Amino acid sequence: MKNKNSAVLTGDRPTGTLHLGHLVGSIQNRIALQDQYDRCFYMVADIQALTDNADNPEKVRNNVFEVTLDNLAAGVSPQKTTFFIQSQVPEIAELTVLLLNLVTLARLKRNPTVKDEMKQKGFGEDVPAGFLAYPVSQAADILFCGANLVPVGEDQLPVIEQANEIVLKFNALYGETFQKITPVLSTTPRLVGIDGNAKASKSLNNTIFLNDSFEEIQKKVMMMYTDPEHIHASDSGNVGNNVVFTYLDIFDPKKNEVRLLKEHYTRGGLGDVEIKKRLIDVLEHIIAPIRTRRRELERDPDTVMDILKSGTKKTRVIAQETMRKVRKAVKINYFD
Ligand code: TRP
Repeated sequence: MKNKNSAVLTGDRPTGTLHLGHLVGSIQNRIALQDQYDRCFYMVADIQALTDNADNPEKVRNNVFEVTLDNLAAGVSPQKTTFFIQSQVPEIAELTVLLLNLVTLARLKRNPTVKDEMKQKGFGEDVPAGFLAYPVSQAADILFCGANLVPVGEDQLPVIEQANEIVLKFNALYGETFQKITPVLSTTPRLVGIDGNAKASKSLNNTIFLNDSFEEIQKKVMMMYTDPEHIHASDSGNVGNNVVFTYLDIFDPKKNEVRLLKEHYTRGGLGDVEIKKRLIDVLEHIIAPIRTRRRELERDPDTVMDILKSGTKKTRVIAQETMRKVRKAVKINYFD
């Protein structure tokens, strides 16, 4: 029996294809939750993607298809999860406008996630207002469908925290309308980049994509940051900040063998190439079936678009219901 009291919503910005960080950060949780909860939504956040890509709508449009393919190929099932496109549910935009009144500019500027991203993108004071306010639109994404569970990576926690402040404020002003939101963190909420950078991200060019070929996986693993002082195989090596071992810990199901390899590496006598070859096999084992399903789906774009279209239609019915309640609460239901 699936749980009927909770609803799950997550989404991705369609700005590029997804990578292993997305897989362990949220996609695996999406797959687990869709078997436990009756109402699960997957949203392609094209409006959010436009907040910092207003000048590149082509990129956003193309990647709507790509991130949908990635999720379908990884195992998010359209039978269990309703797929939809954010922009095609205009009620979300309407809710966003109402929620914007409940948030101050100062609070938006303090959001650590937004701050980090602003720094990374070099916005400074010239930040697009839509980008600065995206946590508000993200609150609307979650609330319009009554979701209370949100599988996300660690970087999104401040956005959820802010959404919960909005929930409190809305309920206090207009009456109990929305539930508290609980983020669902994975056991690996943040994946290091192949270069050892704290976060794997497309913009840092340090990721392994879910649609990388075997050759690309090979090349990237061979470039991975290990222990710069481990020069000869016979040297004793450090497993702590060693990306190959970090990835083996996460992705290799044979934990005991990994433990023995770590001991061997620490003692000396185990070369980088050997552990990298093992990691290549482990990653290929995970990515190969995703890649195969993706190729199949790519050949059938009409089916993929139909999944988005029928899911969006279903989602809009729910959105309209929520907005009727919201308009009533905010006293803008003149013609009801
Ligand atoms: N901000 C998320 C990201 O960058 C994408 C997103 C948009 C999202 N709306 C959401 C995630 C609602 C969870 C819930 O990946």
